[in-house]
Amino acid sequence: MLILGIESSCDETALALVEDGKVVLSSLIASQIATHSRWGGVIPEIAAREHLEAIREMYQQLMSTTGKNLSDVDAIGVTQGPGLIGCLLVGASFAKGLAQAAGKPVIAVNHVHAHVHGALLGIEAPHEQIFPTLALVVSGGHTNLYYMNSCIEFELLAHTMDDACGESFDKVGKMMGLPYPGGPHVESLAQKGTPERVPMPRMVERKSQLVFSYSGLKTAVALALKSMDKTGHRLEDIAHAFQEEALGQIIRKLGIALGMRPATKSIIVAGGVAANGRFRELMKRATALPVWFPPLKYCSDNGAMIASLAYFQHCSNPATAALEWDVFSRYPFETLMTTLGTKNNEKQSIP
Ligand code: KG4
Ligand code: ZN
Repeated sequence: MLILGIESSCDETALALVEDGKVVLSSLIASQIATHSRWGGVIPEIAAREHLEAIREMYQQLMSTTGKNLSDVDAIGVTQGPGLIGCLLVGASFAKGLAQAAGKPVIAVNHVHAHVHGALLGIEAPHEQIFPTLALVVSGGHTNLYYMNSCIEFELLAHTMDDACGESFDKVGKMMGLPYPGGPHVESLAQKGTPERVPMPRMVERKSQLVFSYSGLKTAVALALKSMDKTGHRLEDIAHAFQEEALGQIIRKLGIALGMRPATKSIIVAGGVAANGRFRELMKRATALPVWFPPLKYCSDNGAMIASLAYFQHCSNPATAALEWDVFSRYPFETLMTTLGTKNNEKQSIP
């Protein structure tokens, strides 16, 4: 079954053709980093306009490089949310237009869940060896920990109560005068740092609390930067200390979740921050279970992960996968207002 995956939730326009949820025929990604780096962050209106300019040509390029056309495609998977509303509308409208023209179903996909499929795309092992799994999505917008019995069941165990992990890397990068997005730059600076030179607070220390937090850490970095003259701390040492706690708290909370879910067979780590080398090292040290990371090209936003999750949703329930929907339907206004504070649109299970 051939699925066209379309992603446009933030600052990457991405399209891919994926066979049976696994075989990527082609994956095209147009990053807007060069545009937004001028402002030090994503400007939603500019992002939406860039998606609009890029999407049609990318679709044509995808079809010509793979030698396919719309009649070969069985269904179209598209990010329904979460994301920037103007950006989401571009992808969703494009998908619906194609679907209407060719009489194909459109499958609405949750972007955060799809990141897990970015990791699954690189795994040879059969699903019986992977699930149940504990899956972390650590990105610029989310720090979510899921317990998954199968590749389409997402039980949210933990999320951030303030900033997301990637967001905190970006904000710390900005405070340090590094280019946007800060994540990779903070990582290379941290590699040159000396361990345990700069004290950092341990976030959400209480063992029973399955939650992440980054805003206090960001403040601690701001204070450390302000007092560099007095303390003599180097930028590299501050970056190192920040990174150790930003990643360390995830390792600690994962340990708690593992204790609560002893049937867990593996760990999946996905999202942009999964590209971090130190994160990969710490994760592998933290558990004897297999830890799966996406190939680097599927860590950040891409269309292949969208097509893959759309395929498995379709296989599980073709009738409901392609029901009529719009970009607002997953997040009714009242729910949005009450969940904005927790940065999550999902109900958290109380373990
Ligand atoms: O998954 P993603 O592409 O977009 C969202 O869905 O948010 O993640 C982007 C985030 C950015 O915050 C970026 O700084 C972070 O991933 N990131 C990293 C690294 N590479 C990307 N953070 C830490 N270390 C990295 N090497
Ligand atoms: Zn993402």
